Amino acid sequence: MTDRITEIAAGLRAAAQRVGTPVYVTDVATVDAAAAEVRAAFPDPWLRSFSVKANDVPAVVAAVVGRGFGANVVSRGEWTLARRAGVPNAATTLEGIGKSDGDLRAVVRAAADGDPLRWTAVESADEAAALAALARAAGLHGASRVDVLLRLNPAVTPETHRGLAVGAASSKFGLADDEIAAAIEAGGGRDGPLRWRGIHLHVGSQLAAVDAWRDAVRRALAVGALVREDDPTFDTLDVGGGFPVSIEGDDDAVPRPARFAAELAPLLDAIPPERRPTRLAVEPGRFLVARAGYLVARVLHVRDGRGPDGGPQVVLDAGMAELIRPALFGARHRVVALTADGRPVHPGDRRAGHRVRPIGSELPTAVEGPICESTDTLGVHELPALRRGDLVAILDTGAYGVSMSTRYNGRPRPPQVLIETDGRLVVARQRGRLASLA
Ligand SMILES: Cc1ncc(COP(=O)(O)O)c(C=O)c1O
Repeated sequence: MTDRITEIAAGLRAAAQRVGTPVYVTDVATVDAAAAEVRAAFPDPWLRSFSVKANDVPAVVAAVVGRGFGANVVSRGEWTLARRAGVPNAATTLEGIGKSDGDLRAVVRAAADGDPLRWTAVESADEAAALAALARAAGLHGASRVDVLLRLNPAVTPETHRGLAVGAASSKFGLADDEIAAAIEAGGGRDGPLRWRGIHLHVGSQLAAVDAWRDAVRRALAVGALVREDDPTFDTLDVGGGFPVSIEGDDDAVPRPARFAAELAPLLDAIPPERRPTRLAVEPGRFLVARAGYLVARVLHVRDGRGPDGGPQVVLDAGMAELIRPALFGARHRVVALTADGRPVHPGDRRAGHRVRPIGSELPTAVEGPICESTDTLGVHELPALRRGDLVAILDTGAYGVSMSTRYNGRPRPPQVLIETDGRLVVARQRGRLASLA
């Protein structure tokens, strides 16, 4: 994936012109390239799902699933958004630590209606028992049983921010390997209303190395092989997501999906053939959409001398309500100017007649958000001299941006524009109305 800011800067300005700021823009060509990379690393018959929590805008979900993916959801809310994006239940999986009785009832209802989810991953013996009780009450048995994976806590040390290291033993996610048998019993055993299909795993997000992932997959294969010995329908391993993107836009600075995929063959070879999973699945989120996303904002204030080394401080009209990742995880996102002093900036464009302000060549500028919290900051960026009304783009905001946005400080949901592969702009979501805040 190359950095597309130069090609799409005009589209970003046009999106801001059309629907105002702040606005989320998704570059579909970048989604396309990311999806192709994951498909090449995990080709059919791998089951590929898009982790909808990364970006739950139906038009973005549709752009991903149209490129060879199902949907992985964590609630009825995400399930509804996936359905709105056209994903059938047969290509949808449900997982997550927060499933309510209502979520589990919806799983059972779909199975009873003959339109089941591909599977549901359970997190604990309690959850297995609750799902089994509902399935039993609905009379599910035999072929109509609910397909279930058991989420394994792989107890590894993921190479990522501690807030993203869900595969650590101390995390709240999943079953320890010695809790698996008890969860199957709690869920009605092998002849109950749940059909045990395999192991679900997720090591962590934004993994900086493959080592913890390899250890986790090895552990999951070993646990799966033990159960499969007595149960041939226990045939699935879902290795989750976690593929990283570089914060500086250099994709080769982090392990690519193919690097993770390359770890698998020797791990599978180490398991006797009759105990290997025959269905393999992967469910990335971030990698598919992060680089495709731009949050376009306008400058509200410029204060000279208030930034580092006497440089300016600028305050934008987008901040932690729209993009909480810097405040929540200390994440860094590049910020580039789309206009300076009211005129378009053409990154890298040196044609005569254009204002030539190559991005990154100007003043160290402290970039702040508009929210009444001092943690609402995007850090220091090299920017040309800006004034109120100028446009900037915050890069790589396609994952865990809009889906984590809040209405804090009375801010309606930002609109969403897609730049289609032919360059057309499509307004996929309008700005939330002030009335909807009430
Ligand atoms: C179970 C599970 N699967 C997949 C993902 C997607 O991870 P990523 O966006 O890092 O690919 C997550 C993210 O938290 C997750 O919890």
